[in-house]
Amino acid sequence: MKITTVVEIKSTPSSTIIPIFQDDKLESNLRLIAKKHAIDFQLLRHDFKAASNEVLTTYFKRGTTSSKLLIVGLGEHLEHGPILKTLRSFFKTQNPKLGKSIAVNLAWVAQKMHPMLSEITSVAAIVGSYNLGLYKSDKKTTSKFKLQIISRAPGIPKVVKDAVALAETQVRVMDLVNAPANKLTPKILGNWVINSGKTNGFQVKVLNKKAIEKMKLNALLAVSQGSDQEPAFIIAEYKHKLAKTTVGLIGKGVTFDTGGLSIKGSANMHYMKSDMGGAAAVLGTIELAAKLKLQVNLVAIVPATENSVDAAAIKPGDIIDSYSGKTIEVIDTDAEGRLILSDALSYMTKKYSTDVLIDYATLTGSVIATLGYHAAGLFTLNEKLSKELIEAGKHCGERVWPLPMWSDYEEDLESDVADVKNYSGKPLAGAITAAKFLEVFTNKHTNWAHIDIAGTAFGDTPFGKQKNATAFGVQLSIEYLKQLVEKQKKA
Ligand code: BES
Ligand code: ZN
Ligand code: ZN
Repeated sequence: MKITTVVEIKSTPSSTIIPIFQDDKLESNLRLIAKKHAIDFQLLRHDFKAASNEVLTTYFKRGTTSSKLLIVGLGEHLEHGPILKTLRSFFKTQNPKLGKSIAVNLAWVAQKMHPMLSEITSVAAIVGSYNLGLYKSDKKTTSKFKLQIISRAPGIPKVVKDAVALAETQVRVMDLVNAPANKLTPKILGNWVINSGKTNGFQVKVLNKKAIEKMKLNALLAVSQGSDQEPAFIIAEYKHKLAKTTVGLIGKGVTFDTGGLSIKGSANMHYMKSDMGGAAAVLGTIELAAKLKLQVNLVAIVPATENSVDAAAIKPGDIIDSYSGKTIEVIDTDAEGRLILSDALSYMTKKYSTDVLIDYATLTGSVIATLGYHAAGLFTLNEKLSKELIEAGKHCGERVWPLPMWSDYEEDLESDVADVKNYSGKPLAGAITAAKFLEVFTNKHTNWAHIDIAGTAFGDTPFGKQKNATAFGVQLSIEYLKQLVEKQKKA
């Protein structure tokens, strides 16, 4: 798909799309649209209210060329999230019918909205054509088209270029998260990162089992010991010459979570192929940051493993070692994410001095019980970082919402036999106690945030009947990083 920006359209496209808000200009806009395309205004006004997801299709002829006009209602809300949802569903449902050349005319939307709308249109067109059927023998390919965005606003080509880069990485991230465990092992994930590093210009090192043993990443080893797939410890570094800040990113990379001996029920176990959504988010972030050449240094670490079960698997009650030197009592083998993240956090804070440290993890069912599928849980004691992440999330539609980190919850981690235990044994405040567990391994990093994406990484989307990947986290981190860079330029 090729997306370009034009001030005026030269030839008649197969489809012209007009996005329009439900605001006080609607009537006068519809009047002008009707006049321009020789449609009856009264009928148009009667049939089309511009509610979000409403689409009115009509046909017209310019010269000898037949063309299609689709007016898309965006509703009354001007926020990124709902508009993206509308346009993504639009492209998803209309994709087979739009033809080879499409024009999106922004003329009926205020010019100050053009940067946001052209970004969303580009992302929606690419991501909206996403094909879930990666492993079908009869691959139905979605139709490819040329898309022209019509706008006179300044700076639109750069916005579109960045949006295309974002969408292409989001699609790659969705493919990763949707890939089942037999197609995406820790080793394959490592190779994906090596290839991305080569293509986009960042350094990658993947430690295999032997190197992980040598490095004494013992909590990661403990989780992986019940699987015949070797673990991988992925370290990726992106550097920019003019960078003033180094941001550390850590992502939970459990390529399949059976729960281990504390085995999960079978009803939704297949969804646990998505338990590397945190890894995908941070790997997508470093890939995109490199593509966009953001003025920041990044270190991304992904501990990758299966949480499987065989005779060698860790057992509830086992006491394991960790990279930090602290011993951990494993009360529940299904609380494996925090174990592998503990090693990644200790490793990162020991080996790298990062100004900011953010981890993404599909960590707890509890965060879903708390926030549902509409926001990720945000855990940090740093007020400034909290505000910045909430702001970034609001801006791009990937919302995070804060939950407390009071020391009262530490009691739940006290073990009689080891330095710390991985589960309180009580079905209470599970997302918070998980975050408090992680905190133990951050070497008191004062600018650390944990983001629990269990409810947002994988969910109901227009792409399939079953839950599937959302690429949550990529846009959020990039938005956060962009704002960080902007602030630095001003300082
Ligand atoms: N991967 C799961 C969390 C999860 C649940 C992600 C649902 C996505 C959807 C995690 O490893 C897990 O099993 N957590 C347990 C922890 C508990 C045993 C302390 C949970 O949340 O139930
Ligand atoms: Zn688990
Ligand atoms: Zn898990």
